[in-house]
Amino acid sequence: MAEKAFERLYQEWLEKTEELLAKFPERKERFTTLSGIEVERLYTRLVDEKRLIEKIGFPGEYPYTRGIRPTMYRGRYWTMRQYAGYGSAEETNRRFRYLLEQGQTGLSVAFDLPTQIGYDSDDPMAAGEVGKVGVAIDSLEDMERLFEGIPLDQVSTSMTINAPASVLLAMYIAVAEKQGVPPEKLRGTIQNDILKEYIARGTYIFPPKPSMRLITDIFAFCAERVPRWNTISISGYHIREAGSTAVQEVAFTLANGIAYVKAALDKGLDVDEFAPRLSFFFNAHNHFFEEIAKFRAARRMWARIMKERFGAKDPRSLQLRFHTQTGGSTLTAQQPDNNIVRVALQALAAVLGGTQSLHTNARDEALALPTEESARIALRTQQIIAYETGVADTVDPLGGSFYVEALTDKIEEEAVKYIEKIDEMGGAVAAVEQGFMQREIHRAALETQRRIESGEEVVVGVNRFRMEEEPEPQLLRVDPSLAKRQIERLKDLRSRRDAGKVEESLAALKRAAEGTDNLMPYILDAVRAYATVGEICHALREVFGEYQPV
Ligand code: 3HC
Repeated sequence: MAEKAFERLYQEWLEKTEELLAKFPERKERFTTLSGIEVERLYTRLVDEKRLIEKIGFPGEYPYTRGIRPTMYRGRYWTMRQYAGYGSAEETNRRFRYLLEQGQTGLSVAFDLPTQIGYDSDDPMAAGEVGKVGVAIDSLEDMERLFEGIPLDQVSTSMTINAPASVLLAMYIAVAEKQGVPPEKLRGTIQNDILKEYIARGTYIFPPKPSMRLITDIFAFCAERVPRWNTISISGYHIREAGSTAVQEVAFTLANGIAYVKAALDKGLDVDEFAPRLSFFFNAHNHFFEEIAKFRAARRMWARIMKERFGAKDPRSLQLRFHTQTGGSTLTAQQPDNNIVRVALQALAAVLGGTQSLHTNARDEALALPTEESARIALRTQQIIAYETGVADTVDPLGGSFYVEALTDKIEEEAVKYIEKIDEMGGAVAAVEQGFMQREIHRAALETQRRIESGEEVVVGVNRFRMEEEPEPQLLRVDPSLAKRQIERLKDLRSRRDAGKVEESLAALKRAAEGTDNLMPYILDAVRAYATVGEICHALREVFGEYQPV
């Protein structure tokens, strides 16, 4: 009876609407999400009522669509983890302490490019980049300065480091040792995701095979020695920043995740031994509801992949835990204060999508690294969402929404098609080597640019609601003399350290790299001897060579 009554009322509504449309047409022919998914005028029912439990279920229960924990933010807010780092280790230490004093609850290290691609500050390749987009770290001594006065058994630290992730992890362990903190007490994450570097971000060093060996060496080493450490942050963030759609972001990230799991299994690791410490990193972009649906679809897909494809039994192996950063590429240089609003809405989408950790961009980041003031506003944005809006007080508040569930289903459906295609190509590594994901992303980026240039996609302040005159924003300037000071300090370190011990540890590392041993213990020895990031990476370059992009 109810169904028939509903149908009748719905038909009446449709007829009335048609009449209105004749006089008052809608503002667009077709409404779509940024992934091109059709957006209906009205959603009046769940697409598949019968499968409600199977597809949506309960938070903390397989397939985790509604969240990975039964209580979610009622138990603990997401970690407010602001990506920070520039200049010298001391300057970044100051910014870390400032953000902790202002209430952030996790650390996140931004390294400069020379550190990220394994060159010391005094390497000619580093010229002009030392301390520019992140902190310059050459040696264990710099790492000690970076965490001066920060007890490493009291914080969780994320390090955005990929090709030399093993070196910076070893340095973090060595700093903790000096603080008297054993490795098993350490909490944090290294990004350690080389595939997205080949696809989108670009800070790679070695070819895929040795890179996968270093990554899975870390899985094995941490499973035994640093059990609370998240060994990888499989990233969709940069894939999205490179111009992908939300569907491609989910699909390519999970395809990369599948490749890492396979590589670890091929190495003889047991899936439940390392999978609980895999983590993810996504973008919170525009199109509010598509982003929320994207996170929910990703959780359900990963749970199914780990259970059905890899036979994982430990529930923690099935739970997709992720960090989110609001979309850097959506920030505009024009009218920068508008970015505070964009970031707030994107952060809200991440929270409604169930993120475990969150970075909110600062309003001036389309122009420069954030000033202290703009970094504070970015953090306050998270605190207002957490403490003032009430959205964290119930689990998955948008669950059951006809629109959000329909979008969640659609994103999952489209992303699964991409993963099947990548499987047919032989998996993510093969797809990367064939340039498949890169081409798909470039095509999506081109389409977005066309929409913006035609005005079809509005960017407020850029292609609509522009201002002739704009006030000059106060921007951060990194002290250019810093590079000189860093290079002098490096020279001084080299004169003080035991050169014989350094040589010995690098030679041992090279021999091990030519064999099959886990390289982490050798890298730890080199780091303890104050060998530098550049020296360790050069030793590995001599054995592994360097990746040549397609
Ligand atoms: N019930 C029970 N337990 C709960 C709970 C609840 N409701 N909420 C939290 N907890 C527990 C968790 O189980 C966890 O305990 P465990 O460590 O023993 O499992 C503890 O509280 C901490 O909770 P989370 O693990 O959820 O939160 P974290 O913040 O510690 O970890 C993460 C989050 C996503 C798993 C982790 O990998 C992380 O922090 N990632 C951050 C990555 C990051 O910051 N990346 C920045 C990249 S910047 C970049 O690349 C951009 C640049 O290139 C431009």
